[in-house]
Amino acid sequence: MATTIDTPTASHAAGFLQGTKQLLIDGQLVDAASGRTFETLDPGTGRVLATVAEGDAEDIDRAVRAARRAFEGPWSKLNPSERGRILHRVGDLIIEHGEELAELDSLDNGKPKAVALAADVALAADLFWYMAGWATKIKGGTVSPSVPYLPGAEFHAYTLREPLGVVGQVIPWNFPLLMAAWKLGPALTTGNTVVLKPAEQTPLSALRLGELLLEAGVPAGVVNVVPGYGETAGAALAAHDGVDKIAFTGSTEVGKIIARAATGNLKRVSLELGGKSPNVIFDDADVDAAIAGAAQGIFFNQGEVCSAGSRLYVAEQHFDQVVEGVSAAARGIKVGHGMHPDTEMGPLVSQEQFDRVTGYLKKGQEEGSSAVTGGNAIDRDGFYVEPTVITGAGADHAIVREEVFGPVIAALPFSDVDDLARQANDSHYGLAAGVWTRDVSKAHQLAKRIQAGTVHVNTYHVFAAELPFGGYKQSGWGREMGEEVLNNYLETKSVIVAL
Ligand code: NAI
Ligand code: MG
Repeated sequence: MATTIDTPTASHAAGFLQGTKQLLIDGQLVDAASGRTFETLDPGTGRVLATVAEGDAEDIDRAVRAARRAFEGPWSKLNPSERGRILHRVGDLIIEHGEELAELDSLDNGKPKAVALAADVALAADLFWYMAGWATKIKGGTVSPSVPYLPGAEFHAYTLREPLGVVGQVIPWNFPLLMAAWKLGPALTTGNTVVLKPAEQTPLSALRLGELLLEAGVPAGVVNVVPGYGETAGAALAAHDGVDKIAFTGSTEVGKIIARAATGNLKRVSLELGGKSPNVIFDDADVDAAIAGAAQGIFFNQGEVCSAGSRLYVAEQHFDQVVEGVSAAARGIKVGHGMHPDTEMGPLVSQEQFDRVTGYLKKGQEEGSSAVTGGNAIDRDGFYVEPTVITGAGADHAIVREEVFGPVIAALPFSDVDDLARQANDSHYGLAAGVWTRDVSKAHQLAKRIQAGTVHVNTYHVFAAELPFGGYKQSGWGREMGEEVLNNYLETKSVIVAL
């Protein structure tokens, strides 16, 4: 079993954790209309971390109205250069307050503070810097139309790219700050205003980010942060007629609910959903590098990553070596409270997620697979499970087909590349994949064949603001990041002038 280690307390986040955290609407911190609050937990101890105002339909409505006023008012009056400079300052402020934001995410989500600093905080800042640059580079084009039924007529035509208006954004708990950044950056650089609903498990860093946005010069009402439950606040946002677009990251199940809720006013929808990503180790791979990559691909962030490499396909002749190598890596991981400096893996985010992951471990056993290492909960306060390597699972087992969203990898041997490609694509998900080989042709060929939004070759979990990220099949609609995400937040208008 992996070593477990204990808890110290926050220093940088202590101030923000004082008192009840309020909603951020129209630049003001306010109580929920109902007066209700809910508690967010430290999953490393299972104890209450903070009390937060519980937003509901009425608060969402208030926030949507504020966002509309801000869209028609101050935000549309700023020129793109000013908008870009403000967003650049947001990146700077995220770094300036990096320790505090990392502690908030570590305490609220469970992840190691060092990981929050190195990944979540750094990537969130970089996302804002990258998106800030786009503010001045969004442009249409000129076109010379040939219109068959108007012979001889001449036109000058051009396209304009325009913001959609008010955007609703519903985000998950696995990368609380970073998911807020992925969503807010492109919406704001294109000139939209936002109502953001963070996950009920991890509302804190989004609220703090909302304050930093104001400090950077984002006008009041441009970003409203309304924590609350999915079935109430989230559903109200997805259904609201005053919302022009809804962007969602989370489970495929809720993604479908959101898409249905959006049909009322046919608001635009983008979805970044679940995954069951194949990580493939060929016979000619650098096996040591592949083992390290497979372990990182599943154990990073407690396995609570939509693109986690949770299906490990290994060329037969390396199967035993790879399973032993990944298992040794799993046993070496120091599991503990996220705020302990030695912790490499924290607890799962919640009792619910703990039940889900341990439920899959049990189901795996019932289905006849076995845990080479791990396979159990860790007996201490908080929601800890062992990093787990499973073998002996069949292609139709739940542990191979369904998203576990925990530190659990199923290893399967393969011999034939065509069969491997078929198995890799035998999923209703299509978010990410990994390929480990020294054969350049093989790598590119498989990269083409795999139905996934991201294919890593001889690496895993590379996220960058420049790179589009998103899913094929039931892993989603549209892309996050890169130039491509801007399309989620812009309309195109054709203007035709007779000459
Ligand atoms: P979820 O999809 O329920 O939650 C994500 C967000 O959606 C939260 O902000 C939640 O409040 C909101 N939400 C929930 N129901 C809603 C509704 N009816 N209308 C509008 N918003 C709603 O995910 P949950 O239950 O926390 O986790 C369950 C599983 O989902 C995980 O075990 C994992 O497999 C998957 N998941 C995938 C994520 C990803 O990054 N793709 C992130 C989080 C969870
Ligand atoms: Mg929490």
